[in-house]
Amino acid sequence: MTNHIPVIAIDGPSASGKGTVAQIVADKLGFSYLDSGALYRVVAFATHQKNISWHDANAIAECAKALHIQFKQEKVLLDNQDISNDIRTELMGKGASQVAVHAPLRAALVDLQHSFRVSPGLVADGRDMGTVIFPDAQLKVFLTASTETRAQRRYQQLLGKGQPADYSNILLDLQERDARDKSRTSAPLVIAKDAILLETDNLGISAAVNIVLSNYQEKIDK
Ligand code: CDP
Repeated sequence: MTNHIPVIAIDGPSASGKGTVAQIVADKLGFSYLDSGALYRVVAFATHQKNISWHDANAIAECAKALHIQFKQEKVLLDNQDISNDIRTELMGKGASQVAVHAPLRAALVDLQHSFRVSPGLVADGRDMGTVIFPDAQLKVFLTASTETRAQRRYQQLLGKGQPADYSNILLDLQERDARDKSRTSAPLVIAKDAILLETDNLGISAAVNIVLSNYQEKIDK
């Protein structure tokens, strides 16, 4: 039983800054970190390699069950191969959001996600961390920002990496992904009833980190 191990669940849409905030919070508390989106990206990558359609729910779930995924020093390994960069492409982002609609795949990834709950604690980031995977999380945060702010951030991020970027395409892609994440029947992107909502349009990363840390402190002092 791992229910006594604290979890901070940070959910929200694409490019809301949740990954960065979650990683810093995990570092400051000495907690493990689960980037659940990376798991869906790995599945998109592996199925793409095996020519499995991103619409074939059962084949995707079967493929996922056989994958050997590891996170090592910020690297993502599939069958001991470093695929960290391969899964960060826009195509794999799109693929991740397509495979993620399938309930059999989401079910196949539950135990793996639970296995990240180790002492002294876990910070988990994704879409359904507080609603489905860790409903008993000590603290639930929903991080968001307007679509325009998020598109602007993704645009700057790509430019920063020296990759080609087109603002209007990014905006359209985000709108498409938001719609898919919110409308799917299995674990849709919703704000957990007991989550704190952080709008980050005018909130920097360190301010967001401080709010998460102080809310967590308050919860454990109770
Ligand atoms: O980079 P971005 O924030 O867009 O995405 P990500 O966190 O890497 O996740 C990729 C995709 O996986 C998202 O667009 C979601 O559709 C899906 N996902 C999910 O369904 N559930 C999660 N817990 C995490 C990600």
